[in-house]
Order: sequence, then structure tokens, then C-alpha cells
Amino acid sequence: SKLEYRGYDSAGIATLEKDSIKVAKDKGRVENLYNLEDTKKLEGSIGIAHTRWATHGIPSKINSHPHLDNSESIAVVHNGIIENYIELKNMLIKNGYHFISDTDTEIIPNLIHYYYNKDDGHDDLKLLRAVKKTCDSLIGSFSLEILSKYMPDNMIVVRKDSPLVVGKGNGENYVASDIPAILSYTKDFYLLDNYEYVLLSRDNIKFYNKNLNEISKETTTITWDAMAADKDGFEDYMLKEIMEQPKAIRETIGSRLDGNKCNFSELDSDFSKEFLSSLHQIYIVACGTAMHVGLCVKNTIENLCKIHVEVDIASEFRYRDPIVDDKTLCIFLSQSGETADTIAALKLSKEKGAKTIAITNVIGSSITREADYSIYTHAGPEIAVASTKAYTSQVVLMTILAIYFAEILGTADESLLVDIKKNILELPKKIEEVLKCDEEITKFAKKIYQEKDVFFLGRGIDEAIAREGSLKLKEISYIHSESYPAGELKHGSIALIENGVTVVGVMTDKDLVKKTVSNIQEVITRGAKTLVVSNQDIDKSMFDVVIDIPETNCFVSPILAIVPLQLLSYYISKEKGLDVDKPRNLAKSVTVE
Ligand code: AGP
Repeated sequence: SKLEYRGYDSAGIATLEKDSIKVAKDKGRVENLYNLEDTKKLEGSIGIAHTRWATHGIPSKINSHPHLDNSESIAVVHNGIIENYIELKNMLIKNGYHFISDTDTEIIPNLIHYYYNKDDGHDDLKLLRAVKKTCDSLIGSFSLEILSKYMPDNMIVVRKDSPLVVGKGNGENYVASDIPAILSYTKDFYLLDNYEYVLLSRDNIKFYNKNLNEISKETTTITWDAMAADKDGFEDYMLKEIMEQPKAIRETIGSRLDGNKCNFSELDSDFSKEFLSSLHQIYIVACGTAMHVGLCVKNTIENLCKIHVEVDIASEFRYRDPIVDDKTLCIFLSQSGETADTIAALKLSKEKGAKTIAITNVIGSSITREADYSIYTHAGPEIAVASTKAYTSQVVLMTILAIYFAEILGTADESLLVDIKKNILELPKKIEEVLKCDEEITKFAKKIYQEKDVFFLGRGIDEAIAREGSLKLKEISYIHSESYPAGELKHGSIALIENGVTVVGVMTDKDLVKKTVSNIQEVITRGAKTLVVSNQDIDKSMFDVVIDIPETNCFVSPILAIVPLQLLSYYISKEKGLDVDKPRNLAKSVTVE
């Protein structure tokens, strides 16, 4: 249940006791499991469990994990996708196996059984060999937990491109897809590389490499306390994470900006003036909210460093043969560090000779193992599916990185850099100010929560902020929303504006504010209701609601301007009675493409 936030549609559990594997599973929420007759029959002190987000086959009891092999000797839960499951299934059918689900996963326990029976050995590693042979035949991504009658006190786990961590306890050991899930039981974790096999029992953890040679691994101690992954008195994780942004930003800044000095010790000597000036371009590649961070900081990097910046969606970048070479720096943004498309884009960039930096919030996540350099945001665990503090902490981090590069290159005015740094240091206090708009936003949310469409407008950096505001609203309120560069609206989409439609305007760029005001005037003329987020000198009387945010340097204004928009989507979702933290169809970590 601690992993519910990742998004799922079915849940299940299997335990092993006295040579018998018992399974309870069904579609729907984890809490439904408590009432199943099958759950009452579960026994034992070793078990595997799963929340499924359907890929192959509809959400149903049969398609839920754990899956058993035909002889009910092996149970498996699987995250990821097996791309060659049809040919493996056909091979197994030819060998007498049958299948009851539509999943790709069901081939895995059967394949293990198949290889187990073909192995003449009788030693302790027989099951592990069968698992290895199975994994060697799989194409795709997987993290697997395997339970078997053949080794009743043990569990085998392995990962390839899907997350999995092992937690070391005292007289007990744990496995999970994410650190926060087991943080209240242990702080000592083993982070696994692809194709590392783990044989766990209550008192023992053994690691094996791809060739099944035993290896030793060090634990990583996680300093987050368990409270950080709890709701801490808030109704929802999302609200908690919105409210804790001042703290999260302080942590991000604290690790990177020491007074006037930027600190990126992990990059230092490699990022010389010579290297940075040799760059033809910087790519920022990410998905969803993280990609919106890229859009916000593109202008900052170009302006301060005078290097061309391209921002790309990872799922597009990876398939379009981008122009990337050793004169390119590729920066990958990912809160979870597990997003499949972002990791694939990173691998492609490395193949093409680029230097790669991963910016993530999750220590030891897959992306950090692929990138040349990893920089952490230190924003604390983000549990709600809708990303909030990850966005603001990434914008802060990327802005400090831009300043750091500009200082090495000598491409920006010293006084401008000093001013941005001063503004960055003031951000936590200013976010606290912005959070006071809570009540005003709640009132507006009550007014518009039944709307069908909402439009978000802005120009320049404000357009990037508008995009993120629009995504937040869609994700958790299920209201259709679109964002536009304000000047683009009249080239077609203004046809959608009619009496009563809601338009949200973002105006923090003093050079563009007058233009945006004119565009919003155009929608007001056509009957739109308006909410404006601004720190500029505007005639407030023309808008329905104006949320004043503190003045700041335009490069960091997204960090303040996004907060009222996060709150707006939150309160609309609450007003509609929706599950804010677990919006339909969405997963926190998108580990499949
Ligand atoms: C954010 O609200 C979304 N849930 C989603 O767009 C997210 O930002 C995206 O899936 C990327 O995730 P990542 O940062 O973990 O890579």
C-alpha cells in the first residue's frame, strides 16, 4: 500500500508456507484485498506483492500479479514489459505449457519452471540458474520478485531497466520498487545494477553478477526520515508537497549556492572554459513536468551562457536521430530517475558521443547509473503523482547550473549574476508569501470546478509556466485544458473562446506584460472569466481574480508563479471529490515507454 502513489489498477500478494504458495489478487485498490477470502488463507513469513498498471490485458483478477507457473511451484511479480513474450509463449505452448492470462508476465514463472526442469543439477543454485536463463531470454524491461517451493526460505530478485531496491533489516530483509516504501523498516539499502541477481532469506542477502559469480555490494544509507515519506498531517501528499516547497527549495539551494559561490563539485575539472566554449549546443531532454522545467530554463542558459539550447521530449528525441555529437552537452531531467524514455534518450546521447548530466531527486535511481554526471535536487521524496516540488527544485537547480557555467565562460554581466543569486536565496521566503493565496484560490476553484475547458496563456517564460499549470489541471481534475503562447491564440484557437470560459494568464516578464494584457483583453471581450498570476504593474480591475506574487528576477519567476497554479488544480480536484494523489490512468514513475 505504500507504493499506491505510483498509480495502479490491480493488486495482489503471494506467500509461501509449508511448500504451498497461496495467492490473493484482484483488480482495484489494495484495500479490496483485505476482504478477499483468498487473503484470509495467506500464511507464512515470506511473500511478494504487486500493484499492477495494465499494459498487456485489461485490469482483471486473472491478469493481476502474482502469476504462477502451471505446476504452482513458482510465483512471480513483474514490473516492466517483455517485448518478445509472444515467441516465448509459443515456445512454451509447444512444450506443453498453457496460459490463463493475457499478460506478458505469465511466461516468466513458466519459463523458470521450464529451465529448472531441464537442469540436471541438484545444488543450491539450480533455481538461480533457471532464473538467469529466463532473464537471458527476455527482451524488454523487468524487475522481478520470485518465490518458489524449490527454495522455500528464499526469494530471488533481479532487475533490468526497471527499479528495484533491497533493504537490509535485522532478522528480516526487504525488496521494493522505491525507497520510501520500506523506509520505516530500514535505512540501509542495496542499489542494484541491471542483471544483478539477489538471493534473499530472512538473515542473508547474497548478490550474483550476470554470470552468477557471487559479488559483494555496499549498502547506501538513506538520510530521509520516514516522516518525509508520510503525509505529516496533511490531507494529501500533493498538498503536503506544495506546502513544503520553501523547505525543499532551501535544501536544493543549500547544496549548490554557498553565499555567492556556486558549487558543483561533481562537475568541476571536466567543465572547463575550454570544454564549455567548445559546445555547439545543449540539449535538455525529459518528459512531462520535467520537460517543462527545460522550457523554463532554456532562455536562462541561452541568455547567460550564449549557448544554443534545445528542449526535447524524451520519447521523440530517442526516435528521431537528433544531431548530437561530442560538441553537445545533454542534460536529462527526471524526478524519479526511472522514466524509461528519458533513460533511453540518455543512452542514445552517450552512443553519439555527448557528455551527459542527469538531474534527479532519487539517489541511486537508474538514470544516475547511466549518466556521466549525476546531480541531485535533494527535494525529499515526492509521492503524489502530480509533480510539484520536483518542478520548483529543478528550476532552481538548473538556474544555479546556468550561473555556474556562465561564470566559467565569462559570458554574463557579473552584476546580473549577483542579482539572480540574491533572488534565488530569497525564494524560500517568497514562496511562503505566495502560499498565502490559498484561500483566494480555493474560492476561485469553487467557482470553476465544473468547467469543461480552461485555457492558460503567457509569453516567453510565462508561456512555459502556463504549460505546467495546464498539465497540472488536466492530471488531477480531468478538466480539458490547453496552454498557448498568448500571441498565438488569435491564429486559430481563439475560436474556442466563448462566454464563461475560464482563461488563466501568467505575467511575470516586464518586457512582455503589456502584450499579454492585450491578448487577455481580447478573451475578456469574448466573455472569458479570468484569473491572472502576476508580479507586474497591471490594471487589476479588468480581471476577475489577480494573484499577486512577490517581485523577483524573471529567470526565477516560474518558481513563484507556478505555486498558485498548483493550488488551483489541487482545490479543483478536491472540489470534484477526486483522488488527488492517485489520478486515473497515471503512474508516478513511467518505467515503460
Ligand atoms: C508530473 O505531474 C507528471 N506526473 C509527469 O509529467 C512527470 O513529470 C513525468 O512522467 C516525468 O517523470 P520524471 O520526472 O520522474 O522523469
